[in-house]
Amino acid sequence: MGTENKYGAKLNAFPRFALTFLPTPLVRATNFERALGDRAPQIWIKRDDMTGLAYGGNKSRKLEYLVGDALAKGATVLISEGAAQSNHARQTAAAAALAGLSCVLVLDTRRGSDLTGNLLLDRLLGAEVRLVEGSADRNPEMARVVEELEAAGERPYLVPTGGSVPIGALGYANCVAELLGQLEAESLRPKRLYFPTGSQGTQAGLAAGALLFEVPFEVRGVAVEGTTAELTAAAAPLTNETLALLGSALTVSPDDISIDDQHVGDGYAIPTENGMEAIGMLARTEAVVLDPVYTGKALAGLIADVREGTFGPEDAIVFLHTGGGPSVFANLDAYTALLEG
Ligand SMILES: Cc1ncc(COP(=O)(O)O)c(C=O)c1O
Repeated sequence: MGTENKYGAKLNAFPRFALTFLPTPLVRATNFERALGDRAPQIWIKRDDMTGLAYGGNKSRKLEYLVGDALAKGATVLISEGAAQSNHARQTAAAAALAGLSCVLVLDTRRGSDLTGNLLLDRLLGAEVRLVEGSADRNPEMARVVEELEAAGERPYLVPTGGSVPIGALGYANCVAELLGQLEAESLRPKRLYFPTGSQGTQAGLAAGALLFEVPFEVRGVAVEGTTAELTAAAAPLTNETLALLGSALTVSPDDISIDDQHVGDGYAIPTENGMEAIGMLARTEAVVLDPVYTGKALAGLIADVREGTFGPEDAIVFLHTGGGPSVFANLDAYTALLEG
């Protein structure tokens, strides 16, 4: 385990535009541990919901590198895509505002288009929002946006879904170094790091960082859509491209990527009972708020493992809180059911 290797310097050498307040806190959740019983491990929460960029979240770390790249290439506009309640889209809009760039977001309305939560913030942060019906409609609309902007003399920079390309994943390789420093200060050697995994950029960055900085813990994604086989097949090449970007010849195969797909429920952005139970528990014990799309499902994965006796009281684990706060207010039905159920 060690943060002082050549990869720390390499991560610092990429163009980067400051968007975050780092390091994010690493906080022990003792009340939550007690609620899980005598045999619970030490549970620490890495608060990436507090990155600080317009309600924070995991995309902020990726966007520091992506915006750095965009500015280095002379871009004038960021274009990105997602669902109407995309946390990534909201953080992209915020990053563009800070960097003095314009922003166009192509968002699909599969799960609604009420002007609340992230969608409301997108507009408040000055992004131009183009709504399309289905996720398959996003690509053709993005192509139209690029054409229009180029015809108007702009220089668009495409931020792919979730910022999940090697340059974006650097943000989470860097997070590993930051976390290791905090773990060393607490003399901790956790067994696992849990977090929600979707478009895989966070997973790839963490997996690359875990190899380069030789961490003691398993990097454990909890899926919010898709199966373990699909997700590990996508994460392995992205991890390898991230390693290569950092000048490492190390590679991983899908079997080296750890993903739990048991907490997706009925699909992306559809709240689950266990996810909502996890949200209620963490709010009441630690005053930490989770969302039902990502972080609630990931914590449900952690709770299931603790209840199955995967860890003992001598162990420590870390939960990476990846944000998602604004989508609480776009899922009022699920929270109302939790409170009234
Ligand atoms: C709150 C939150 N957590 C986790 C994720 C998943 O991150 P990734 O897309 O890098 O897998 C996202 C992605 O949008 C998110 O918004």
